[in-house]
Amino acid sequence: MTEAQPKQFVAVLDFGAQYGQLIARRVRDLHVYSEIVPCDIPADELAAMKPSALILSGGPASVNEPDAPRVDPAIYEMGVPVLGFCYGHQITAVTLGGKVFHPEVGEYGHAEIERAADSALFNNTPLKQTVWMSHFDAVCDVPEGFVVTAKTKVCPVAAMENAQKKIYTTQFHPEVKHTEHGQQILSNFLFNICGLEKNWSMDNLVETMTAEFREKVGEDRVILALSGGVDSSVVAALGARAIGKQMTCVFINHGLLRKNEPEQVEEVFTKQFDVDFIHVHAEDRYAELLAGVTEPEEKRRIIGTQFWKEFFAVAQQLETDGKPVKYLAQGTIYPDIIESGARKTGGKASTIKSHHNLIPFPEGVHFDLIEPLDHFFKDEVRELGLALGLPAHIVFRQPFPGPGLAIRIIGAVDKEKLEILKNADAIVREELDAYNERLYKQTGERNSEHSCWQYFAVLPDIKSVGVMGDERTYQRPIILRAVESSDAMTADWAKLPYDVLAKISGRIVAEVPGANRVCYDVTSKPPATIEWE
Ligand code: XMP
Repeated sequence: MTEAQPKQFVAVLDFGAQYGQLIARRVRDLHVYSEIVPCDIPADELAAMKPSALILSGGPASVNEPDAPRVDPAIYEMGVPVLGFCYGHQITAVTLGGKVFHPEVGEYGHAEIERAADSALFNNTPLKQTVWMSHFDAVCDVPEGFVVTAKTKVCPVAAMENAQKKIYTTQFHPEVKHTEHGQQILSNFLFNICGLEKNWSMDNLVETMTAEFREKVGEDRVILALSGGVDSSVVAALGARAIGKQMTCVFINHGLLRKNEPEQVEEVFTKQFDVDFIHVHAEDRYAELLAGVTEPEEKRRIIGTQFWKEFFAVAQQLETDGKPVKYLAQGTIYPDIIESGARKTGGKASTIKSHHNLIPFPEGVHFDLIEPLDHFFKDEVRELGLALGLPAHIVFRQPFPGPGLAIRIIGAVDKEKLEILKNADAIVREELDAYNERLYKQTGERNSEHSCWQYFAVLPDIKSVGVMGDERTYQRPIILRAVESSDAMTADWAKLPYDVLAKISGRIVAEVPGANRVCYDVTSKPPATIEWE
């Protein structure tokens, strides 16, 4: 933990690929700081972190398998309250002397639990309630000292507890939105049972984070690759506040950004924030390198390699004044760390991908990293951005791939196609920004059920016949891609109202020279991906 994090914190023991992430986010939603730790962390190591409470996550394994993940039994003796869900419920049962069996039927999806005994965990929730279940095993015998507090028709122990030792577990998943009273249950645990305080908020953090940043770098020089995305922009805004022109933000313009984006980034980081801003106009160099390249991975490779070349060239140029660059600031966020697994979390949640942000330092070049957002979830980064005074168009920017429009132009990239795509994409964004804003006004939620999470235009490598006025046209179709998602791992195609689709189609064909047709991609992920390349 860094100074910025409060002393009070909840450790989430993760029993399987990313089950813990959602729990940690829910706890932070309730303004309590939480961190993910590997499920097999030794109790003495965990105790040294001084957690205020432990939450044991779900996981895909079966506790009765010989190599199923285990937990150090001593964690139950630390005198720290424990809450466990699903696998966390079952592992608690078997570790403390209970039994788990494999019933004939499992439960998947909505289920109704009925309370079987009084329990502080269920305070302010009804006797019968809908929960989200996903299990094939179930606890049949509870350990000594435990009572059953809820059951379903097929699950004899839907919840159990040893209130004296403050150990509470549920077969269902309170962290999932489909569990009607999930947040209340979590809240009961954190505030009534553990007596924690709500003290995690982004507004309070800005001062501490600024001081930490300043203290870490001292008088040294810092460089940042600023993409204009949320994460690097928040680091830039924080750096500006902490050390001003001691930090250089390098914005590499590969010519593959969306319409007006480079201008907006330059405006924000030259007029609003006091940093040293360098706009590298690399458009022509990228155009040359990408000419005739059609293979998506090859495009990605070229763009990525050139990016670092451009970046290190600037770093070297900067140092010609005799003052070395000591630090590279990065917008790495907590999910990057969890997914990379290489660093702080270790453990089961973490063997998914290698670190996204590994930097190919050229020989002889090395910078120390400063990653002030490495303990924050995306929503928190946005809140920080607002607290630091970044404009909404940056803070609420949708995800945009590093290789930019090059992977939204199917086949070879050229100037003419880029122009068509930029213009069509600007219309898609304008109309769907407005659509999302209308939903926000209706629901009060930024990411409500039907709001679009990512939306853009794609330019396929074909032409089609049309007619405009009395003229036959032979021009490009535009594919509209709009998805609902929360993390890009899965996505549903957005069920946009016909009038919204009609407006987008009408505007593109009328306003974008070179486009005469609009198609809507109605495929979810999986089986498709969000991007076309
Ligand atoms: P897919 O297409 O795999 O995309 O469903 C999932 C999310 O990742 C973004 N994406 C990328 N981001 N570099 C990036 O920085 C890339 O090469 C890249 N490819 C896809 C995509 O926009 C979506 O949000």
